Amino acid sequence: MDSQRLDRDSILRDLRTHCFGRSLVILDESSSTNDVAASTAEDGAPHGAVVIAETQRAGRGRLGRAWYSPRGGIWMSILIRPKRALSFSDSLPLVGALGLAKTLGLNWRVRAAVRWPNDVVVDGRKIAGVLVESKSKGNELIYATLGIGINANVDTSKIEPIRDSSTSLLTILGTPINREQLIVATLLDVEAIYESIQASGESAALECLGDLDWSRGKLVNVRTVDRDFVGVFDSYESLGRARIRTASGLERVETSALVSVDYKSDQMKRPQANKR
Ligand code: BTN
Repeated sequence: MDSQRLDRDSILRDLRTHCFGRSLVILDESSSTNDVAASTAEDGAPHGAVVIAETQRAGRGRLGRAWYSPRGGIWMSILIRPKRALSFSDSLPLVGALGLAKTLGLNWRVRAAVRWPNDVVVDGRKIAGVLVESKSKGNELIYATLGIGINANVDTSKIEPIRDSSTSLLTILGTPINREQLIVATLLDVEAIYESIQASGESAALECLGDLDWSRGKLVNVRTVDRDFVGVFDSYESLGRARIRTASGLERVETSALVSVDYKSDQMKRPQANKR
């Protein structure tokens, strides 16, 4: 069902995950679901707890950008309590983006792809974004909030600032989707990728990312905390680290060190086959 409000019972009835979404809060309105998820984490919420809001007053994206969160979208945060070390949180944005791109392709036949470091795009237009925030103590990651924003039943052509760069499922499919089904399917795919990484490392996820990647071969302007350069996106060294080919060789960039990434979308370059 979709109409106006999400039906929590229907989500819980259809959920096939181990942990993600088993504890589920659906709010009519929130500031940012990442903040609510963090506050439930402080109160002891379990790994996989999910907070969803019909609309966010202060939805945010990477680098403190505003994230438009009107009714009809899916604005949700998953609480992650990792068993691994701090660097693991670097891979989480792509765990979310990859899981969602897979879901959209398999279940809705939408040609969704992952755009480094945290976007899901369809034909180069952003349909979803992922924001991971975390709390750590020394070297130990206490928890992370994996926030996923999906332009589901939203008309992005009416949101001036993102009209040209974004799209939505409503626009692509021409009809509203069942948001409960998308939430259930996304949680299942994101959890499966997360668990496979925890159990056996990143190789399976990286292979899947190879098939669903949008960035390879694109000219990109990268700003990190200590340098600024232009290059061609080459490949992923790991989920948390990309390789960019520049005039002076390969630059390795960690997601956590990124300040900004600008794609020169009209200047696509052919990937340079397997050069290192
Ligand atoms: C980005 O593309 O920069 C990331 C966007 C992330 C948006 C989601 S919506 C749910 C969660 N709550 C937020 O305030 N942000 C994330």
